[in-house]
Amino acid sequence: MSKAKGLEGKTVVLGVTGGIAAYKAADVASKLTQLGACVPTVMTSHATRFVAPLTFRALTGQRAETDLFAAEDRFEIGHIGLAERADLVLVAPATANVLAKTAAGIADDLLTTTVCATKAPVVFAPAMNPRMWENPITRRNVALLRELGYRFIDPEKGRMACGTEGWGRLASPQRIVDTVVELLCRKQDLAGLRVLVTAGPTREPLDPVRFLSNRSSGRMGCALGSAAAARGAMVTLVAGPLSLTPPPGVETVSVLTTAEMHEAVIHRADEQDILICAAAPCDFRATQVAEQKLKKGSPGADTILLAPTVDILRELGARKRSQVLIGFAAETENVLANAATKLREKNLDLNVVNDVTQPDAGFEVETNRVTLLSPDGRTESVDLMGKRELADVILDRALQIRQSRGQ
Ligand SMILES: Cc1cc2nc3c(=O)[nH]c(=O)nc-3n(C[C@H](O)[C@H](O)[C@H](O)COP(=O)(O)O)c2cc1C
Repeated sequence: MSKAKGLEGKTVVLGVTGGIAAYKAADVASKLTQLGACVPTVMTSHATRFVAPLTFRALTGQRAETDLFAAEDRFEIGHIGLAERADLVLVAPATANVLAKTAAGIADDLLTTTVCATKAPVVFAPAMNPRMWENPITRRNVALLRELGYRFIDPEKGRMACGTEGWGRLASPQRIVDTVVELLCRKQDLAGLRVLVTAGPTREPLDPVRFLSNRSSGRMGCALGSAAAARGAMVTLVAGPLSLTPPPGVETVSVLTTAEMHEAVIHRADEQDILICAAAPCDFRATQVAEQKLKKGSPGADTILLAPTVDILRELGARKRSQVLIGFAAETENVLANAATKLREKNLDLNVVNDVTQPDAGFEVETNRVTLLSPDGRTESVDLMGKRELADVILDRALQIRQSRGQ
């Protein structure tokens, strides 16, 4: 009997764009085909300057499409035929240009039309000169696309064809293929479980127009909610004011103050299987909120008296029964020692520890570099990765904790 190869019955539409790394897409196409996937290729006209459509035809047994209007004759629903057929659209390599076009909603060739029209997950594997990758417009486009749910296989650091050294080299074909397999074969391993995630900052009013808050954007919490929903969980996201749109497929409960977040969480806590507190609720509130806007020079306006807010995590730790309770610790000094104290005092099953002084980790960025701290003192360093990828790692650990308890 022949062994299952992993991607039988799956259609991976491979988009190839006009960069030096286009030749590596041939290896990706070959590997995906060998795993049993059907791999129709869509090439931009610039891509055909780097590698011939015939290469993909020979490797995949499928035509490599290059022409929006030719597609009209070939597919039942013409130019969106491939978008409909795709289980996943992989753009590798993805130029700065195709990222910019997708972010702007431009659909002026067969590839960008397919990306725009598909309901399947879209994965970009960018490759470009480091200066193009670091260009603020590219950074903005990538951030927007990530926020909208597009996936990225980030480029690697290394020597580029143009002779420069830096971030921008296409991820290895094997890493690209592994990611596709992971996405397409992901088990619904959280099906039937209830997961509550908190996200974002809270706001504590000082007067009708001012408030105390912090730099949390809510990205990590949204990534956790989105990942848990993709794995089949029923997800509730209790969110303070977010800097991004909450992910689809989750129930979002919007709150403003720490007291409101506390109320929303405690009210739902007992029915949850997994509780993940990724929010950064304010630890302090003003003891008195002025009824009118505070004016410069008015008596007492230069002094704010603070009182601690309710400790949501501590209360969850005290009342939890069989649930897995995961907290986050954003620290700036004595990072691991402070996180260990928090884990013990709040009865956590896992503490995800951020050193927020690092430029690429913690608040307001797309990536995170964390240490996972367990109650038995074990620590696991997780390399710098996208918050969505990290969300899956955290959910894997939550499942392992449940399994270790026979749940
Ligand atoms: C030799 C050469 C190499 C290039 N390599 C890249 C690259 O690696 N990444 C990139 O974003 N653009 C690269 N470009 C620029 C793109 O080809 C250009 O932006 C083009 O408009 C992309 O079109 P497309 O996105 O429709 O394929 C390169 C151009 C040339 C001439």
